Amino acid sequence: MMIRLAFASLVSAFSLVAAAPALAASNADRLHQVAGSAAEFDKARLAGQKAAYFCANCHGQDGNSAYDYIPNLAGQNAVYLLNQIDKFADGRRQDPFMSGLIKLLKEDDRFNMAIYYSSQPVRSSASGNPALTTKGRQLYEGICKACHGAQGYGNEKIARLAGQQPVYLKQALEQYRLGSKRRNDPVMGSIARRLKDYDIAALAAYIPTLK
Ligand code: HEC
Ligand code: HEC
Repeated sequence: MMIRLAFASLVSAFSLVAAAPALAASNADRLHQVAGSAAEFDKARLAGQKAAYFCANCHGQDGNSAYDYIPNLAGQNAVYLLNQIDKFADGRRQDPFMSGLIKLLKEDDRFNMAIYYSSQPVRSSASGNPALTTKGRQLYEGICKACHGAQGYGNEKIARLAGQQPVYLKQALEQYRLGSKRRNDPVMGSIARRLKDYDIAALAAYIPTLK
């Protein structure tokens, strides 16, 4: 039993190492290259804005979502966005709508849209419940800050959280906790499994107020 478990975790550790960096590197390399030229970056951003007209119905014209259960894409790290798009495309992440839609997008459109959205400013929201927000701040500073950053800005591998939509945050944390096919990440899974429903509600109240 022990040996089988150890073997299983070894295999999964290896497949993680094998799969993740290859994808991350190519998205990151291409983005760094385009970001190195102001003219190329602007061209991509404008093409992305055009290509994103359909996404605006849900994610908002400027990537500030129109609904509290749909994520803001504005201000999100472009490499992170492309990595999530890859995950929808190959089934590592599943959503009834996004999984189908992403498969219809051309490689260049995906790339340009990620540049467009990442370059838009995020509107953070005011908080409602002070007790819940205070509890959320304590949890954030104790657990989440180490990776997502003091202000929740994230980086290429870790999502920006600042200003994110409250209901979306709650759902994402519940999905990680469940570890279902919809969203399964070993790092966030182990963190979310430590959170009670009240903790998730508190984090979902606090994080949208981060600027
Ligand atoms: C009908 C509404 C709808 C439309 C239109 C839509 N999306 Fe989404 N999108 C969603 C929902 C809902 C989610 C969250 C899915 C989940 O819970 O995993 C999402 C998630 C995403 C994410 C992951 C964001 C994150 O923070 O991890 C990306 C990237 C994304 N969408 C890009 C796009 C792009 C690009 C388009 C246009 C080509 C688009 N979406 C159009 C509803 C929509
Ligand atoms: C050890 C590093 C680490 C810590 C600590 C951590 N996270 Fe994460 N978080 C990640 C990574 C990596 C991802 C991207 C996972 C993926 O691709 O689905 C992520 C993604 C997320 C997402 C998805 C965002 C989106 O746009 O869809 C949410 C929500 C989130 N984390 C919330 C939290 C909260 C709340 C805490 C504290 C309770 C926390 N995280 C602590 C590394 C971490």
